[in-house]
Amino acid sequence: MTADREPVGVIGAGWVGLVTAACFARLGHEVHCRDIVSEKVEALRRGEVPIYEPGLAELVRGARDRLHFTTEMADVLAGAELLFCCVDTPPTYSGDADLSRVEAVLDELGDSDRHALVMKSTVPVGTGRWIERRRPELGYVSNPEFLKEGTAVDDFMHPDRVVIGSGERSARFADRVAALYEPQGATIIRTDVASAEMIKLASNAFLATKISFINEIANVSEELGADVTEVARGMGLDERIGPQFLRAGIGYGGSCFPKDVSALKQLAGNSGYHFQLLTAVIEVNELQKRRTVGKLQKHLGSLVGKEIALLGVAFKPDTDDVREATSLVLAARLRSEGAHVRVYDPVATERSRDLLGGATVAESALEALDGADGAVLVTEWPEFRELDWAGSVRERMANPLLVDGRNFLDGDALRAAGFAYEGIGRG
Ligand code: UGA
Repeated sequence: MTADREPVGVIGAGWVGLVTAACFARLGHEVHCRDIVSEKVEALRRGEVPIYEPGLAELVRGARDRLHFTTEMADVLAGAELLFCCVDTPPTYSGDADLSRVEAVLDELGDSDRHALVMKSTVPVGTGRWIERRRPELGYVSNPEFLKEGTAVDDFMHPDRVVIGSGERSARFADRVAALYEPQGATIIRTDVASAEMIKLASNAFLATKISFINEIANVSEELGADVTEVARGMGLDERIGPQFLRAGIGYGGSCFPKDVSALKQLAGNSGYHFQLLTAVIEVNELQKRRTVGKLQKHLGSLVGKEIALLGVAFKPDTDDVREATSLVLAARLRSEGAHVRVYDPVATERSRDLLGGATVAESALEALDGADGAVLVTEWPEFRELDWAGSVRERMANPLLVDGRNFLDGDALRAAGFAYEGIGRG
């Protein structure tokens, strides 16, 4: 079968599944996408996309004749042989990954040697081996995803690399998976299953390490009078280091880094190895979120009764995802210090209302800043650069104090306008 005729099955219409389904449909494949939530399937059939991801809704609507949404696994099994598994693998209380949704999928697949499960969900190293033992007839291919929220469609269409892991028994399926990605022209790496699984976890853990590293350089720079943005620029020009993921800030969040770093640490621990570096990466990230409170206290003293505005709730811009968002930790910490917290986010406040525990949700940045004793820029949404800081913001705030948690604004201009400005690592 040639790749341009290969129908594709996608199990799970969450963020990864929908992007995968829509992009394969865009590349000309018939796609059979299954989700167990019937309201979601109904909405998708009407062309309504339940998540905010730039370009995704247009893609889903544009490829509607090739995108078939269903609640029935039988429809997917009848329509396609390569079944991309895109279900959630959230962390459990122990930090291990919860594979119950993957198990539920397996229970619905027979031992058909026509079908292969292609694992996109992030799973512990060893999962493939376990599935191959449990389902000896079924093909199994590991094909981890490296999409970033906010740029997922572009990442899918122009990947840095595509990783495909398989054992010998499933090599013919792995060839067909590789053929699906040929139009993107990316480097395709073929490995065994365990190595493919490790590439995914190690990549996320390394990026998180890079962030915690630059955050510690930032903290030391504050003490020693260096500017971390200059330091990162100078370091990043070394090709061995590279410029990306050297933006110091108030810590990484999201549904992937915190989960995957802790999953890899846990996996190592379960195998008898104490992964010291990752233990520090996690701790540095936790402390980084809390340092912001100290920066407010430096200017305001006690925070009891103070009005603090948080600009941004999403864990990064261009997404409405608030999972493991720094804003949630910060809001809770500030409230326990006795502050009144108001938050504003251009797209994510609805999702986070219940998680913000007593914080006031504002309809605009100006409303959040009105009468505030201090503000923290948590998420670098472009609209925060457009605010008239020297004019209407300055007039409305009771006290012009800004902690810029992403080094996003022009600190010199703000200081000149009368603000007390605190960046991250800009000694
Ligand atoms: C991350 C990886 O970048 C993707 O390759 C991977 O596919 C994905 O996880 C996943 O496993 O599904 P994502 O969580 O969408 O993607 O977001 P990133 O853009 O990587 O940002 C993660 C966090 O790191 C954000 O909170 C961001 O603000 C923070 N960050 C990022 C920094 O603090 N500094 C940086 O220099 C870069």
